[in-house]
Amino acid sequence: MKIVISITGATGVIYAVKLLEALKEKTDIETHLIISDWGKKNLEIETDYSLDYVEKLASKVYDQRDLGANTSSGSFITDGMIILPCSMKTLSSIANGYDDNLISRTAGVTIKEGRKLVLCPRESPLSPIHLENMLKLSRIGVCILPPFPAFYNNPQTLEDIINHNVMKVLDQFGISFDSAKRWSK
Ligand SMILES: Cc1cc2nc3c(=O)[nH]c(=O)nc-3n(C[C@H](O)[C@H](O)[C@H](O)COP(=O)(O)O)c2cc1C
Repeated sequence: MKIVISITGATGVIYAVKLLEALKEKTDIETHLIISDWGKKNLEIETDYSLDYVEKLASKVYDQRDLGANTSSGSFITDGMIILPCSMKTLSSIANGYDDNLISRTAGVTIKEGRKLVLCPRESPLSPIHLENMLKLSRIGVCILPPFPAFYNNPQTLEDIINHNVMKVLDQFGISFDSAKRWSK
């Protein structure tokens, strides 16, 4: 499998670090990483992970300004794209086809090629503009998967909550992840 992962400047960059760590374990999955400038800034603000550590988790890394990169073209075949976390700015750019950087361009390519696009938007509260952008994308088949915590599985640590969200994202691609607890009566 070949999956594009993007990190944008919404809070919750740690989810993406854990997702990349999980995918690094899978030898049959290539990850193509694009981090926005504000995604990099939030990595620094919110975590102790270095950019170098996070980039080394990926198979290939692209600059968000490089609109000539592989993922900018539909002829570069992928199994889909995950944006985690997805800022309202990037969400808006995708919803309006404003492909001004490699992240929104790749998302637009993913949509036009009919591939799986999973957005994990994060903002609170959500304005009607945010909700309309999400609804617009949901109606054309984009998976809107906000990183909301679940409590039905009795999380004991922050890691349990993060892992649960990582599992929900990976479920969209049918990728197994054993570090999270599923609902079971
Ligand atoms: C610490 C911090 C937290 C932020 N959290 C959010 C957020 O949760 N959601 C959001 O839409 N924007 C958030 N922002 C604002 C975005 O970073 C900003 O809109 C930026 O332009 C997004 O650009 P990007 O989508 O290219 O990363 C945050 C910014 C900072 C510095």
